[in-house]
Amino acid sequence: MRTIADHILDIASNSVTAGATEIWLDVDHNPATHQFVFSVQDNGKGMDNDMQERVFDPFFTTRPHNIRRFGLGLPFLRENAELSGGGVELTSAPGKGTMLTATFHTENIDCLPVGDLPSTFLTLLTSAPRVCWHIRRAEGNLSYTVCTEELQAIFPSEELSDPQAQLLLLDFLREQERELHRNKSGGA
Ligand SMILES: Nc1ncnc2c1ncn2[C@@H]1O[C@H](COP(=O)(O)OP(=O)(O)O)[C@@H](O)[C@H]1O
Ligand SMILES: [Mg+2]
Repeated sequence: MRTIADHILDIASNSVTAGATEIWLDVDHNPATHQFVFSVQDNGKGMDNDMQERVFDPFFTTRPHNIRRFGLGLPFLRENAELSGGGVELTSAPGKGTMLTATFHTENIDCLPVGDLPSTFLTLLTSAPRVCWHIRRAEGNLSYTVCTEELQAIFPSEELSDPQAQLLLLDFLREQERELHRNKSGGA
């Protein structure tokens, strides 16, 4: 796990594993305060209070143990967020869903690099066909959103598995990301 984007992919994948059909992913960097916050909210199976404490134990997982022995996703996220002076908050209710918010301080020397957000979004949007994604990405007061419903109007769902369509979508996401930074440096 070398970037914040890797953590986003991992945490959003937990929501898919938890059976979510709707997932809201918010990725928000404030260049003025150097706070980088991402949150993932899902309507998956949720967790009771006891489990919410245990998921930060590196040896806890509900995956079959023949697939993977340890559940490092959440403990590792918490460790990396806290190393930067931030942290992780988890709220969940069985049968309702889960919301996880992670804060990083990007000016801290121990903060992970942000990494490749467009590739992360592409992977999420194309690898879980029954999930309806609502992705919002903000940089200061600029933002863009991408959601599955909009994409289905442009790319029928069977086409999103086509590498050609995925390249187009990746280009589109990279352009959206560039716009956030272009406008910032242009001062407009
Ligand atoms: N969004 C979620 N909804 C329900 N349960 C979750 C969610 N995220 C994590 N969990 C639970 O926490 C456990 C630990 O998660 P994690 O640390 O990512 O390790 P892993 O996914 O490898 O098991 C999972 O096995 C799962 O039981
Ligand atoms: Mg996981």
